[in-house]
Amino acid sequence: MNNALQYAEKKFDTFVGELEDWLRIPSISTDSKYAPDVRRAAEWLADNFRGIGITNVELLETGGHPIVYAEYLVGPDAPTVLVYGHYDVQPPDPLDLWDAPPFEPVRKDGVLYARGSSDDKGQVFMHVKAAEAYLKSGEELPVNLKFFIEGEEESGSVHLAPSIERYRDKLRADIVLISDTALFGEGVPSITYGLRGLAYVEILLTGPNRDLHSGVYGGAVENPISVLARLISGLHDAQHAVTIPGFYDDVLPLTNQERANYRALPFDKEQWKASIGVEAVRTEEGYSILEATTARPSLDVNGIWGGYQGEGAKTVLPSKAGAKISMRLVPNQRPDDIVEKLRRYLEARVPDTMKLEFRDLHGGYPSITPLDSPAMQAAKQAMQAVYGREPLFTREGGSIPVVADFKRILNVDTVLLGFGLNSDSIHSPNEHFGLDRFRQGVECIIRFFPAYREQMASAEIANKS
Ligand code: BES
Ligand code: MN
Ligand code: MN
Repeated sequence: MNNALQYAEKKFDTFVGELEDWLRIPSISTDSKYAPDVRRAAEWLADNFRGIGITNVELLETGGHPIVYAEYLVGPDAPTVLVYGHYDVQPPDPLDLWDAPPFEPVRKDGVLYARGSSDDKGQVFMHVKAAEAYLKSGEELPVNLKFFIEGEEESGSVHLAPSIERYRDKLRADIVLISDTALFGEGVPSITYGLRGLAYVEILLTGPNRDLHSGVYGGAVENPISVLARLISGLHDAQHAVTIPGFYDDVLPLTNQERANYRALPFDKEQWKASIGVEAVRTEEGYSILEATTARPSLDVNGIWGGYQGEGAKTVLPSKAGAKISMRLVPNQRPDDIVEKLRRYLEARVPDTMKLEFRDLHGGYPSITPLDSPAMQAAKQAMQAVYGREPLFTREGGSIPVVADFKRILNVDTVLLGFGLNSDSIHSPNEHFGLDRFRQGVECIIRFFPAYREQMASAEIANKS
């Protein structure tokens, strides 16, 4: 392993330079205008794989953006690690809030600024460079490596589950490894063992057949914006719990042990509030911030529109009002079931003065990974070696639905070895990734492979006896 570590150390600046080239390609998957750039980013990655000495590289066509597949097999005795990540990025707007253009990477005080630097090109690239460190230093790679890097994560991964089904033989593996989450804090090593799921809907209320003069019609025609506001405000009660009937039916309650673990985490509430500019928090009654954002479900209105929004006054009684709503789910909630419950809730409350259109946009299942597996133990060992202290095991509130898909379709667990920080401004202006974390990530992945091989070997011996 030492040759690989030394190689990575020596080549660090080259690695960062290559990453900057990749970040210059605006692989925005949600906007069809950028489809050629998304493909260019896929091809760039495929070329980089070839450059490090992997010959088995291909773009898997999906009907949407391609998946980059690469594999390097060392033999049937070695365990197989499947690395998943995404090379697509979020749209960069609002552009005027960026200090430098989002697709012109800037290195400043050891931090790399660019869209995708943390989510997820920068983190995917740690895996590519960890592989390079083995292949180019002459160090023997202790595991079989497969890479499955998709281009539609930020637009709901619509072609992903069918692709996993289709390539199930190719994807056979002992463990999935993903770096697309965050450390608990700066310099605080941690391994994520739980993620929330997602249900996302859009609703539209239509009253009169056109915008009306509010003087001529106001008083006799019900206003879609008022009704929408009423429906939305009814979705939470005074305890800040969600009111949709049955919403909590399948929620796995926190055990006392889990709650004690949460309390033991080094969490600074004042600093957390200050970092987002709020003076008070509002959690579901009885739950801490960490519990409420990672182990309890939530509902948020992401956007709302209707009526006149331009300069000055326009006396209008609008025809339409709409909103986008996301719900974060925890085990054992199911996205389809939750969407159906919300639809029933809304339909029962829409007045006879207007009609409701309801669209299910996309969803994904929550996940929890057992802590005692060989892969988790190997991840713990690798983290400990890099940071000089034991990692914490934490849950996060964001969603990576493919984790549940890998379990369901391939029956393979995932280790989430993320090196982001919640303060990286992912999905926001000035997204950035600390180069120290990029370096630690590469080192940790290099250390994970031999540790995993060893853990698997001793687990096998234990199974036989
Ligand atoms: N990398 C994030 C998920 C994430 C962020 C996990 C922070 C843990 C901490 C991923 O790229 C993402 O943005 N996921 C979306 C869901 C997806 C289905 C569009 C999300 O969580 O909103
Ligand atoms: Mn991501
Ligand atoms: Mn993302």
